[in-house]
Amino acid sequence: MTTNALAGGSANEEQERFWNDVAGPLWVAAEEETERHTGPFGAAALAVAAPSAGEAVLDVGCGCGSTTVALGAAVGAGGSVLGVDLSAAMLARAEERAAASGSTHVRFRRADAQDADLGSASFDLVFSRFGVMFFADPAGAFANLHRALRPRGRMVFVCWQAASANPWMAVVNRGAARIFSLEPPSRDVPGPFALCDPDRIDAVLRAADFSDVEITAHAEQLRFGAGQSVEAWVHQRLLMGPARAAYLDAGLDRQRETCAILAEELAPYRVDGEAPESGLVMDAAAWIVGARP
Ligand SMILES: C[S@@+](CC[C@H](N)C(=O)[O-])C[C@H]1O[C@@H](n2cnc3c(N)ncnc32)[C@H](O)[C@@H]1O
Repeated sequence: MTTNALAGGSANEEQERFWNDVAGPLWVAAEEETERHTGPFGAAALAVAAPSAGEAVLDVGCGCGSTTVALGAAVGAGGSVLGVDLSAAMLARAEERAAASGSTHVRFRRADAQDADLGSASFDLVFSRFGVMFFADPAGAFANLHRALRPRGRMVFVCWQAASANPWMAVVNRGAARIFSLEPPSRDVPGPFALCDPDRIDAVLRAADFSDVEITAHAEQLRFGAGQSVEAWVHQRLLMGPARAAYLDAGLDRQRETCAILAEELAPYRVDGEAPESGLVMDAAAWIVGARP
C-alpha cells in the first residue's frame, strides 16, 4: 500500500507538479526503454551499495520501483525497503511491480524526501538512482536523509554528469533552447544536471554532515529510439525536457519543423547502414556517489 505524506503540500511544489502531473505518466508509458538506459547505472550503484540480508533501505525518488524491488530481493524478507517519490502514477506502477514480485517487505510512500519525516536512524542504506537532483534545498534535503540513516549506515546514489558528457539529453535540449530562444538552464536549479559538478556534490554532502564522500565515474553507450523514427524520439524528448512549454505552445507546423531540424542534428549518432528505425547510439555518463553519515 502507498501512503501519502503530501496532503499538506510539498517543499518542492514545482517539481511535484512536474513529476506528478506531467513527467510521471510519460515515464510510466516509456518505462521499458527508460529501464534499459538507467538499468546499467542502477546496477553499478547497487554493486557499490552492496545491500545485505536483513538491512533496512530507503530508495529516494524510487519512480516505477525497479530499484526498490531489486533492493528488496537483496535484503530478503528479514529486511525492509521503503520507496519514496513525488509521483502518484509512478508509485502506482511501483506497487504493481512489487506485488508481481511477491515482496511483502517493500513499501511505498508518496512524500517529498527533502522534508518528509523519514524517522531518525531508521535505515542502514539510503539509495537512489537518479532521484536526488530535484531538491530546491539540496543541503537541507541531504540533511534530512542523513537524519534517517543509522550511525554506521551509508548512502549511495547515481546522478548525471554534465550535459557535455550526455549528448542523449544535450543535443535535443540545446537545439530546442536555440530554436525557441530559451535561456540555457542553470546548473544550480533542480533538474537532471543539478549534481553534475563533483565539487558541488562534495560541498552539498559535507554541508549536510556526510563524510567519506567518494565519487566515481560510470559511462555507457546507449541505444535510443529503436523502432521509431528519430523525429518521434525527438518529440518525446521535447515533451520531457526544459523546452516542453515552448514546444507545446509552438503549434503543429512549428513542432514538426523542430523535430525535423533536431533529427537532422542527430544524424551523426545514427548507426551507419542500419534502418532509420534502428535508433541512435549515444554516450551517457553518470557519477556514482557514496558517503557515510
Ligand atoms: C529521473 S526519475 C528516476 C526514477 C527512478 N529512480 C528510476 O531510476 O527509474 C526521478 C524521480 O525522482 C522523484 N523525485 C524528484 N524529486 C523528489 C523529491 N523531492 N522527493 C521524492 N521524490 C522525488 C521523481 O518523482 C521521479 O520519480
